[in-house]
Amino acid sequence: MRCSAAALSVLAAATSVVAQPPSPGKDGRYTISSSEITAQFIPYGATLTNLFVKDKNGEDVDVVLGYDDSNYYPKDPGHPVYNSIPGRYVNRIGKGKYTIDNTTYTTELNDGTNTLHSGANNWSYRVWNVTDSTEDSITFAIRDASNSSLGMLGLVKGQVTYSVEGSTWRIKMEATSPEARTHNGEALMLTHHTYFNLDAFKNPDTVKIWNHTLHMPYSKRYLIADDGALPTGQIGTAAPNSINDFASSAGLFLGHAQSDPKFSGNCGGGGACEGYNGYFLIDDAPADAVVVSLASSFSGITADLRTDQHGVVLYSCNWMDGTADLKKTQGTKENRKVVRSSCVAIEAQDYVDGINQ
Ligand SMILES: *[C@@H]1O[C@H](CO)[C@@H](O)[C@H](O)[C@H]1NC(C)=O
Ligand SMILES: *[C@@H]1O[C@H](CO)[C@@H](O)[C@H](O)[C@H]1NC(C)=O
Ligand SMILES: *[C@@H]1O[C@H](CO)[C@@H](O)[C@H](O)[C@H]1NC(C)=O
Ligand SMILES: *[C@@H]1O[C@H](CO)[C@@H](O)[C@H](O)[C@H]1NC(C)=O
Ligand SMILES: *[C@@H]1O[C@H](CO)[C@@H](O)[C@H](O)[C@H]1NC(C)=O
Repeated sequence: MRCSAAALSVLAAATSVVAQPPSPGKDGRYTISSSEITAQFIPYGATLTNLFVKDKNGEDVDVVLGYDDSNYYPKDPGHPVYNSIPGRYVNRIGKGKYTIDNTTYTTELNDGTNTLHSGANNWSYRVWNVTDSTEDSITFAIRDASNSSLGMLGLVKGQVTYSVEGSTWRIKMEATSPEARTHNGEALMLTHHTYFNLDAFKNPDTVKIWNHTLHMPYSKRYLIADDGALPTGQIGTAAPNSINDFASSAGLFLGHAQSDPKFSGNCGGGGACEGYNGYFLIDDAPADAVVVSLASSFSGITADLRTDQHGVVLYSCNWMDGTADLKKTQGTKENRKVVRSSCVAIEAQDYVDGINQ
């Protein structure tokens, strides 16, 4: 079975939609569905809480991370940006500074010496408005006042529409800035921060993500990053079967380079971050090509990504420390927690820290 996701970001000229806000279910979730997919959302962060797709036996499997209690999302001290829309500028801004037209803006340092996901008041911590919904689609909107995230000036109006059709899940993000220079994408960059485990943590052999396969046929190149996961401005090219190679052949395990001594520090953290937390470029992909294909033979589920963005961030959940609970739709009697390296976030977006490079 195939489940597809496409992210479209920062399209101009959104028209406003006026509709009576629809009502959620008792647990605060809005449900949309197609013949193959059932997806549930909450307004907090415009978050996807559950994504049910069919496994090889035709059973529904909830393939994304989340919590059973909708009210826990705002309380979670770890706040891993579960399947929400961080913004208005995702991922890192190096040293908390960027310059537009000779004016330098200072942003909040909340990730070592860098800004991550815009700092305080970022979009993944906000309760969005539901402006439209049907059986198979839902639209959330956010009005982000100037400087509500430090150093991000000008009003921005954002909206996301999620829809499902057959085995396809679409994500359409739009944002406009009526006041500031941000409308050309200068301090405006969005993504959907989706965390997957295509086995729903039910594989008795392993809950780790390393035995999912990953193919990114157009992504030989990646951004070289420093120890704080900040790109240096250099671009690397992965040799076949080297640690950052997911391009040369289909069927490479996410953990194919586990025995490489560099694997344990491949995503920084002073050598403490194993696996991946970096950006892969998408080069010369034909329009509508599958650019990322994540699959698990245990469940028989494949997630194919199509996107109009320039690349993807891949984060293999190194910092999950085993304290967060799994949903009741996931795991086994023994596996009830999100342990280290047991999931992968796949985030289609523009170049990380592109604003400074
Ligand atoms: C920025 O500064 C440079 C050098 O002083 C100048 O040539 C340029 O016109 C300035 N740009 C703007 C948009 O002010
Ligand atoms: C997002 O904003 C919240 C609320 O202000 C803040 O506590 C948190 O540190 C921010 N998170 C990130 C990742 O920037
Ligand atoms: C939701 O809509 C209300 C009424 O228009 C507005 O005051 C509020 O700022 C909106 N919330 C967000 C997150 O945009
Ligand atoms: C943005 O907010 C900070 C305080 O949070 C303030 O010091 C700064 O002057 C504000 N910037 C602008 C341009 O309003
Ligand atoms: C799991 O992945 C490793 C590489 O990380 C590989 O060596 C092993 O054969 C895989 N096991 C199965 C059952 O696919």
